[in-house]
Amino acid sequence: MAHQFGGEWTKEKLKRLQKYLAAYTIIFNNNERARKLHFMYVDAFAGTGSFQKTQSQVTDQADIFSDNVPEVEEFLKGSARIALEINPPFREYIFIERNPEYAQQLQQLKDEFAGHKIQIVNEDANSYLLRWCESTNWKTARAVVFLDPYGMEVEWNVIEALARTEAVDLWYLFPLGIGVNRLLTRSGPPPEPWAERLTRTFGTEDWRDAFYRSHQMLTLFGDDETQLKKDADFHDILMFFVQRLRTVFVEVASNPLILRNSRNNPLYALCFAASNPRGAPTALKIAEHILGKKKT
Ligand SMILES: C[S@@+](CC[C@H](N)C(=O)[O-])C[C@H]1O[C@@H](n2cnc3c(N)ncnc32)[C@H](O)[C@@H]1O
Repeated sequence: MAHQFGGEWTKEKLKRLQKYLAAYTIIFNNNERARKLHFMYVDAFAGTGSFQKTQSQVTDQADIFSDNVPEVEEFLKGSARIALEINPPFREYIFIERNPEYAQQLQQLKDEFAGHKIQIVNEDANSYLLRWCESTNWKTARAVVFLDPYGMEVEWNVIEALARTEAVDLWYLFPLGIGVNRLLTRSGPPPEPWAERLTRTFGTEDWRDAFYRSHQMLTLFGDDETQLKKDADFHDILMFFVQRLRTVFVEVASNPLILRNSRNNPLYALCFAASNPRGAPTALKIAEHILGKKKT
């Protein structure tokens, strides 16, 4: 059984990933030196390999006054299957999935793609990635890592560890509207647990000064009072995060793709960053082309 999530934006995200993975393995196979490297694809929030989009559809036959509106189920390929279908393939695939049921379904995908080298890791992505960054020999290995969380699960120290490898190209679905903007409360700085979560996402406390300004308010008694208020929109938040990525990665795409729901509200931003000094300029060029023209 596929798991349910997403909307049109899910397809948009996966289309970009697919294009990049296809370009990556062609480059690595065509280049004499790169062909000798152990190049991997790591899907850190892998899901099941497919997902199910369910929509209500009113058709001519449907009785619009009854609750009996037919449901249209659309089964779509998830990131793990998309990556496995890339030809030429990666040397190795690592799928990390915390949910044991979903990991079990990835096992079926592994059986289906028996000719591929596939590892399924049923644990927390943050702790596994930290160990993997430490234990891999980056002199002979390269990787594309896809971070596709539901919300704010990714810790900044993992982003730093990935950048330190100098061998990882990163695609990160940053939870711009679904998480970060919601925690940045409008009327004043967020409560401490939310503030801590934001700090672990950004890897700094600087978001406090970046997103909140003091305002002079007149109280009922005619006194002046200073209050902190949010002074940041989606664009400010995203640019702050892109700058944070630039503190650790060699190159970062300047045109992350904002993915919106059907009401046009930003949910996520698909970000790209490259850490290998030699490969980063080419990687950036391809990623920025795939992401689209608009520079944010
Ligand atoms: C948005 S879905 C991934 C969708 C998938 N990339 C695809 O395109 O088919 C996020 C997945 O991450 C898993 N997950 C959530 N927190 C996790 C964590 N800390 N470590 C590993 N997996 C996690 C969830 O169970 C869920 O399957």
